[in-house]
Amino acid sequence: MRVAALVLAAGRGERLGAEVPKGLLPIAGRPLLARAIEGLVACADIDVIVPVVPAAERTRCAALLRGMDRVAAPVAGGAERQDSMRAGLAALPPDVEWVAVHDAARPLVRAADVTRVVAAARRHGAALLAVPVRDTLKRVSGGRVAETLPRAACWAAQTPQVFRVELLREALAKAEAEGFQGTDDAQLVERLGVPVEVVEGDPSNLKITWPEDVELAEALLARRSRGPA
Ligand code: CTP
Ligand code: MG
Repeated sequence: MRVAALVLAAGRGERLGAEVPKGLLPIAGRPLLARAIEGLVACADIDVIVPVVPAAERTRCAALLRGMDRVAAPVAGGAERQDSMRAGLAALPPDVEWVAVHDAARPLVRAADVTRVVAAARRHGAALLAVPVRDTLKRVSGGRVAETLPRAACWAAQTPQVFRVELLREALAKAEAEGFQGTDDAQLVERLGVPVEVVEGDPSNLKITWPEDVELAEALLARRSRGPA
């Protein structure tokens, strides 16, 4: 059955502090949202892509994405990421069975990694891309270390995160009923007690959060365009 991707781009990009909304910020000359979507378009496993954008930017985003293969009309997001995810879920065509939720803030996502995480979700019901952390993680409370987490067990979650649509809808309904806001989608599914499979991703699938992340992304793109070393 059909696989949809939701590309969440309805945030304000406050930490980036750019003149334009984050999705429209050029990364090596191409807007971030367009790059994120291109990574998904390049993956043959994705049948339809639904962008979720700020309500005030729908027209601009539609113009940017016009003519891109399998990309639906952008839908308006909400105040929090989870609200945007809900708006995207509500806009999915009825025959969609699997949904890959992707942050537009990760414009360097590669089709091969999307394929691997979709395949894992098809086998297990829910899967995400993640990378082992490089730093030792401390849980900090009141400016002091409360705990050192076992590094070998710590992974940094990326997107796409892929779920059976009905599972994500159920997880979202439970979170909303309980007033819970997650920082990613897998967390909502975990709260149902459903296992989420981890697929090792690529550190280059970085998230653009701060201005210096743009420089890093551009350096990675330049390296990619030179081809494998
Ligand atoms: N997002 C969204 N709707 C929101 C908030 C976030 O669709 N109400 C999306 C963002 O556009 C982004 C992803 O969720 O692609 C991850 O969010 P983040 O990196 O925090 O982006 P912003 O919320 O835009 O940035 P900031 O928190 O700095 O304002
Ligand atoms: Mg945010």
